[in-house]
Amino acid sequence: AIGKSTNIFWQECQVGKVDREKLLKQKGCVVWITGLSGSGKSTLACTLGRELHSKGKLTYVLDGDNLRHGLNKDLGFSSEDRAENIRRVGEVAKLFSDAGLICIASLISPYRKDRDSCRAIVPDSRFIEVFMNMPLELCEARDAKGLYKLARAGKIKGFTGIDDPYEPPLNCEAKALESEKKKQRREIKKLKLLVAKGQAA
Ligand code: PPS
Repeated sequence: AIGKSTNIFWQECQVGKVDREKLLKQKGCVVWITGLSGSGKSTLACTLGRELHSKGKLTYVLDGDNLRHGLNKDLGFSSEDRAENIRRVGEVAKLFSDAGLICIASLISPYRKDRDSCRAIVPDSRFIEVFMNMPLELCEARDAKGLYKLARAGKIKGFTGIDDPYEPPLNCEAKALESEKKKQRREIKKLKLLVAKGQAA
Protein backbone atom coordinates (compact mmCIF):
# COMPACT_ATOMS: atom_id res chain seq x y z
CA ALA A 1 0.00 0.00 0.00
CA ILE A 2 1.08 3.59 -0.67
CA GLY A 3 3.05 5.28 2.09
CA LYS A 4 3.39 2.07 4.08
CA SER A 5 7.14 1.44 3.66
CA THR A 6 9.05 1.57 6.91
CA ASN A 7 12.73 1.22 7.79
CA ILE A 8 13.86 2.65 4.49
CA PHE A 9 16.90 4.87 3.92
CA TRP A 10 17.87 7.31 1.20
CA GLN A 11 20.96 6.15 -0.76
CA GLU A 12 23.15 8.82 -2.39
CA CYS A 13 25.19 7.91 -5.50
CA GLN A 14 28.45 9.49 -6.64
CA VAL A 15 27.03 10.61 -9.95
CA GLY A 16 24.33 13.22 -9.43
CA LYS A 17 21.92 15.30 -11.47
CA VAL A 18 24.45 18.07 -12.11
CA ASP A 19 26.96 15.51 -13.49
CA ARG A 20 24.37 13.99 -15.78
CA GLU A 21 23.22 17.39 -16.99
CA LYS A 22 26.81 18.36 -17.76
CA LEU A 23 27.19 15.19 -19.82
CA LEU A 24 23.94 15.80 -21.70
CA LYS A 25 24.53 19.55 -22.04
CA GLN A 26 20.96 20.28 -21.00
CA LYS A 27 18.83 20.67 -17.90
CA GLY A 28 16.09 18.27 -16.94
CA CYS A 29 12.57 19.60 -16.60
CA VAL A 30 8.93 18.55 -16.77
CA VAL A 31 6.50 19.99 -19.29
CA TRP A 32 3.07 18.90 -18.04
CA ILE A 33 0.27 19.18 -20.61
CA THR A 34 -3.27 19.01 -19.19
CA GLY A 35 -6.64 19.23 -20.93
CA LEU A 36 -9.80 17.44 -22.01
CA SER A 37 -9.78 14.25 -24.06
CA GLY A 38 -9.32 15.19 -27.70
CA SER A 39 -7.96 18.66 -26.92
CA GLY A 40 -4.67 17.97 -28.71
CA LYS A 41 -2.38 17.14 -25.77
CA SER A 42 -0.60 14.25 -27.46
CA THR A 43 -0.13 16.16 -30.72
CA LEU A 44 1.41 19.10 -28.88
CA ALA A 45 3.60 16.77 -26.78
CA CYS A 46 4.93 14.98 -29.87
CA THR A 47 5.46 18.19 -31.85
CA LEU A 48 7.34 19.81 -28.99
CA GLY A 49 9.37 16.63 -28.41
CA ARG A 50 10.29 16.36 -32.08
CA GLU A 51 11.28 20.02 -32.37
CA LEU A 52 13.46 19.95 -29.25
CA HIS A 53 14.98 16.65 -30.39
CA SER A 54 15.92 18.20 -33.74
CA LYS A 55 17.78 20.88 -31.76
CA GLY A 56 19.83 18.19 -30.04
CA LYS A 57 17.80 17.98 -26.83
CA LEU A 58 17.02 14.66 -25.21
CA THR A 59 13.26 14.44 -24.63
CA TYR A 60 10.79 11.78 -23.54
CA VAL A 61 7.02 11.86 -23.92
CA LEU A 62 4.86 10.28 -21.20
CA ASP A 63 1.38 9.93 -22.67
CA GLY A 64 -1.57 9.03 -20.44
CA ASP A 65 -3.23 6.75 -22.96
CA ASN A 66 0.07 4.91 -23.67
CA LEU A 67 1.00 4.49 -20.00
CA ARG A 68 -2.38 2.90 -19.35
CA HIS A 69 -1.20 0.02 -21.57
CA GLY A 70 1.62 -0.79 -19.14
CA LEU A 71 2.67 0.99 -15.94
CA ASN A 72 -0.91 2.07 -15.20
CA LYS A 73 -2.89 -0.78 -16.71
CA ASP A 74 -4.31 -1.63 -13.29
CA LEU A 75 -6.03 1.77 -13.02
CA GLY A 76 -9.45 2.92 -14.15
CA PHE A 77 -11.08 6.35 -14.18
CA SER A 78 -12.48 6.75 -10.65
CA SER A 79 -11.15 9.85 -8.89
CA GLU A 80 -8.91 7.61 -6.72
CA ASP A 81 -7.49 5.82 -9.76
CA ARG A 82 -6.93 9.06 -11.65
CA ALA A 83 -5.13 10.49 -8.61
CA GLU A 84 -2.91 7.40 -8.44
CA ASN A 85 -2.33 7.60 -12.21
CA ILE A 86 -1.16 11.20 -11.93
CA ARG A 87 0.91 10.47 -8.82
CA ARG A 88 2.79 7.66 -10.58
CA VAL A 89 3.39 9.66 -13.74
CA GLY A 90 4.48 12.65 -11.64
CA GLU A 91 7.04 10.43 -9.91
CA VAL A 92 8.29 9.02 -13.24
CA ALA A 93 8.51 12.54 -14.70
CA LYS A 94 10.46 13.65 -11.64
CA LEU A 95 12.91 10.76 -12.15
CA PHE A 96 13.27 11.53 -15.86
CA SER A 97 13.95 15.18 -15.17
CA ASP A 98 16.45 14.14 -12.48
CA ALA A 99 18.08 11.97 -15.17
CA GLY A 100 18.52 15.20 -17.17
CA LEU A 101 15.74 14.68 -19.71
CA ILE A 102 13.15 17.13 -20.89
CA CYS A 103 10.13 15.08 -19.93
CA ILE A 104 6.86 15.95 -21.63
CA ALA A 105 3.81 14.48 -19.87
CA SER A 106 0.41 14.61 -21.57
CA LEU A 107 -2.47 13.45 -19.43
CA ILE A 108 -5.98 14.75 -18.87
CA SER A 109 -4.96 15.16 -15.20
CA PRO A 110 -8.36 16.71 -14.47
CA TYR A 111 -7.95 17.52 -10.79
CA ARG A 112 -5.98 20.58 -9.72
CA LYS A 113 -4.71 19.07 -6.50
CA ASP A 114 -3.15 16.10 -8.31
CA ARG A 115 -1.33 18.38 -10.77
CA ASP A 116 -0.20 20.62 -7.89
CA SER A 117 1.20 17.55 -6.10
CA CYS A 118 3.29 16.77 -9.19
CA ARG A 119 4.55 20.34 -9.35
CA ALA A 120 5.47 20.16 -5.66
CA ILE A 121 7.79 17.15 -6.07
CA VAL A 122 9.78 18.52 -9.03
CA PRO A 123 12.63 20.57 -7.53
CA ASP A 124 13.96 23.98 -8.60
CA SER A 125 10.70 25.11 -10.27
CA ARG A 126 11.38 22.93 -13.28
CA PHE A 127 7.70 22.23 -13.82
CA ILE A 128 6.05 23.91 -16.79
CA GLU A 129 2.29 23.41 -16.75
CA VAL A 130 0.57 23.82 -20.11
CA PHE A 131 -3.21 24.03 -20.40
CA MET A 132 -4.81 22.84 -23.64
CA ASN A 133 -7.49 25.48 -23.63
CA MET A 134 -9.86 23.74 -26.02
CA PRO A 135 -13.61 24.15 -25.28
CA LEU A 136 -15.58 20.97 -24.61
CA GLU A 137 -17.85 21.67 -27.60
CA LEU A 138 -14.89 21.55 -29.97
CA CYS A 139 -13.41 18.38 -28.44
CA GLU A 140 -16.82 16.78 -28.60
CA ALA A 141 -17.56 17.97 -32.15
CA ARG A 142 -14.30 16.41 -33.33
CA ASP A 143 -14.63 13.25 -31.19
CA ALA A 144 -11.73 11.50 -32.95
CA LYS A 145 -12.05 8.34 -30.80
CA GLY A 146 -15.85 8.33 -30.63
CA LEU A 147 -15.67 8.40 -26.82
CA TYR A 148 -17.83 11.51 -26.30
CA LYS A 149 -20.62 9.84 -28.24
CA LEU A 150 -20.36 6.75 -26.02
CA ALA A 151 -20.26 8.95 -22.90
CA ARG A 152 -23.36 10.90 -23.97
CA ALA A 153 -25.13 7.60 -24.61
CA GLY A 154 -24.24 6.52 -21.06
CA LYS A 155 -22.02 3.71 -22.35
CA ILE A 156 -18.95 5.21 -20.66
CA LYS A 157 -19.51 6.39 -17.12
CA GLY A 158 -17.45 9.17 -15.52
CA PHE A 159 -16.11 10.69 -18.72
CA THR A 160 -14.14 13.90 -18.22
CA GLY A 161 -16.16 16.97 -19.19
CA ILE A 162 -19.42 15.00 -19.43
CA ASP A 163 -20.09 13.43 -16.04
CA ASP A 164 -16.69 13.86 -14.41
CA PRO A 165 -15.14 17.27 -13.69
CA TYR A 166 -12.21 18.99 -15.35
CA GLU A 167 -10.59 21.72 -13.25
CA PRO A 168 -8.62 24.14 -15.45
CA PRO A 169 -5.32 25.42 -14.05
CA LEU A 170 -5.40 28.75 -12.22
CA ASN A 171 -1.71 29.55 -12.58
CA CYS A 172 -0.22 27.64 -15.48
CA GLU A 173 2.96 28.64 -17.30
CA ALA A 174 1.34 28.47 -20.76
CA LYS A 175 -1.94 27.97 -22.58
CA ALA A 176 -2.31 26.33 -25.96
CA LEU A 177 -5.14 26.09 -28.46
CA GLU A 178 -4.61 23.39 -31.02
CA SER A 179 -7.53 24.24 -33.28
CA GLU A 180 -5.86 27.34 -34.62
CA LYS A 181 -2.68 26.45 -36.48
CA LYS A 182 -1.16 29.92 -36.32
CA LYS A 183 -1.78 30.17 -32.60
CA GLN A 184 -0.39 26.67 -32.13
CA ARG A 185 2.88 27.68 -33.83
CA ARG A 186 3.06 30.70 -31.53
CA GLU A 187 2.41 28.52 -28.48
CA ILE A 188 5.07 25.99 -29.43
CA LYS A 189 7.53 28.84 -29.93
CA LYS A 190 6.59 30.20 -26.51
CA LEU A 191 6.97 26.75 -24.95
CA LYS A 192 10.38 26.28 -26.49
CA LEU A 193 11.37 29.68 -25.07
CA LEU A 194 10.11 28.60 -21.63
CA VAL A 195 12.17 25.38 -21.83
CA ALA A 196 15.18 27.39 -23.07
CA LYS A 197 14.77 29.83 -20.16
CA GLY A 198 14.93 26.87 -17.78
CA GLN A 199 18.07 25.65 -19.57
CA ALA A 200 19.77 28.99 -19.02
CA ALA A 201 18.80 29.28 -15.35
S1 PPS B 1 -6.44 10.88 -16.41
O1 PPS B 1 -7.77 11.48 -16.16
O2 PPS B 1 -5.37 11.89 -16.42
O3 PPS B 1 -6.16 9.81 -15.45
O4 PPS B 1 -6.55 10.24 -17.87
P1 PPS B 1 -5.35 9.75 -18.84
O5 PPS B 1 -4.46 8.80 -18.13
O6 PPS B 1 -4.73 10.93 -19.49
O7 PPS B 1 -6.14 8.90 -19.93
C1 PPS B 1 -7.02 9.54 -20.79
C2 PPS B 1 -7.40 8.67 -21.97
O8 PPS B 1 -8.22 7.60 -21.57
C3 PPS B 1 -9.33 7.43 -22.46
N1 PPS B 1 -10.53 7.37 -21.59
C4 PPS B 1 -11.06 8.32 -20.81
N2 PPS B 1 -10.77 9.64 -20.64
C5 PPS B 1 -11.53 10.33 -19.73
N3 PPS B 1 -12.52 9.82 -19.00
C6 PPS B 1 -12.85 8.51 -19.14
N4 PPS B 1 -13.83 7.99 -18.40
C7 PPS B 1 -12.10 7.72 -20.08
N5 PPS B 1 -12.16 6.40 -20.44
C8 PPS B 1 -11.21 6.22 -21.36
C9 PPS B 1 -9.26 8.52 -23.49
O9 PPS B 1 -8.84 7.91 -24.68
C10 PPS B 1 -8.19 9.47 -22.99
O10 PPS B 1 -7.27 9.84 -24.01
P2 PPS B 1 -7.04 11.36 -24.52
O11 PPS B 1 -5.70 11.30 -25.20
O12 PPS B 1 -7.03 12.28 -23.35
O13 PPS B 1 -8.16 11.61 -25.48
